[in-house]
Amino acid sequence: MLVRGLLRTTTRAQLGRRWYIATDQLKVGIVGTGMVGATAAYAMILQGIGREIVLVDLNKKRTEAEADDLNHAVPFTKPELVTVGDYPDLDGCKVVVVAAGVSQKPGETRQALLGRNAKVFETVIPKILQHSPKATLLVATNPVDVMTHLAARFAAAHGAPASHVLGTGTCLDSARFSHLLGRHLGVDSSSVHGYVVGEHGDSEVLLWSLVTVGGVPLDDYCQARQILLDDAIKRDIDFKVRRAAYRIIEGKGSTYYGVGAAIAAIVHAIIHNEKCVLTICAPMATVAGVQNTTVAMPFLVGGDGVIAVLPLSLQGEEYAQLSKSAEVIKEAIAGIDEMEIAEENKQHNQQGATNNHNNNNNNNQRA
Ligand SMILES: NC(=O)c1ccc[n+]([C@@H]2O[C@H](COP(=O)([O-])OP(=O)(O)OC[C@H]3O[C@@H](n4cnc5c(N)ncnc54)[C@H](O)[C@@H]3O)[C@@H](O)[C@H]2O)c1
Repeated sequence: MLVRGLLRTTTRAQLGRRWYIATDQLKVGIVGTGMVGATAAYAMILQGIGREIVLVDLNKKRTEAEADDLNHAVPFTKPELVTVGDYPDLDGCKVVVVAAGVSQKPGETRQALLGRNAKVFETVIPKILQHSPKATLLVATNPVDVMTHLAARFAAAHGAPASHVLGTGTCLDSARFSHLLGRHLGVDSSSVHGYVVGEHGDSEVLLWSLVTVGGVPLDDYCQARQILLDDAIKRDIDFKVRRAAYRIIEGKGSTYYGVGAAIAAIVHAIIHNEKCVLTICAPMATVAGVQNTTVAMPFLVGGDGVIAVLPLSLQGEEYAQLSKSAEVIKEAIAGIDEMEIAEENKQHNQQGATNNHNNNNNNNQRA
């Protein structure tokens, strides 16, 4: 209601370019409001993205504190209302960000962690869609490619369109790439277009062959400006992009500003039907010869979520690396499927044992 009131009393000039957006397009949900979820909300508030942000998390006390803190930033920025809610309060959201996740227990394998996060999604995704069936889901939980694949599976079972599920993919990695390259070239990162594709993780692929600076191929730019960019410098940038998360986590425990800004940019693209190119991840029938997996590629993103993947013409080593990266994700997905089958079998056997036990008891009783 407050949102509608705001729109009625606010002039077109005050709202700038966004005056024409219907109010029901301006509600954003965030499920999982730890460091990533809360920082994404902050980034949206600073940029005036949306009009209402609903925070949902298991930890109510912490979430209420986050909402208070975030609301206190609003008077310095743009009209926005941050509320704490439960799943029914997500009703009418245009986008729901999913950053809920459990952290690794000491000694726990990556695959076991994955299995536990898969369980979180199995309950969370249907609950979101039950109350906000038209929302586009934006997954940030790691491993983001695998979790997006699972979210898409649960969403499809719920009847949601395939275009309505995407993950942050390698938006953050592409930003790290542009930032480092921009610094080396002495150019603002917004004018450096470089894609990182594949897994958001160790096997990701920096597409050096497609980098442009203001539309000019990288080598031509370096030649014209007499900038040295040899293999050693490229290896150094590659290492810093690929290992960025390790360095940040070692220094401060976790990463959240970069991904928070990436989430805000993707939400903006959806709310404003921007049709911009972002290296998000989404399920694909085939990528670099690997079938039915979810990897990050440059996708066109708009009001209905994923519009299309860009047809990249990759050759040789880059194609082979992307293929390998897609396989890594596919194997992780297969690992979860095997865990689920093992779990089902275990439950089935336990059920069988109980039935046998009961039957034996019955037999005993009958005897
Ligand atoms: N995609 C990226 O580029 C990127 C970058 C950084 C972090 N991440 C990932 O984002 C996720 C969140 O990171 P964080 O630093 O905010 O972690 P965090 O531990 O600070 O927050 C996680 C939140 O999820 C909540 N949660 C857990 N289970 C839930 C459930 N069933 N329902 C609702 N809420 C639930 C927790 O209460 C907690 O508040 C992690 O998986 C992390 O690896 C992704």
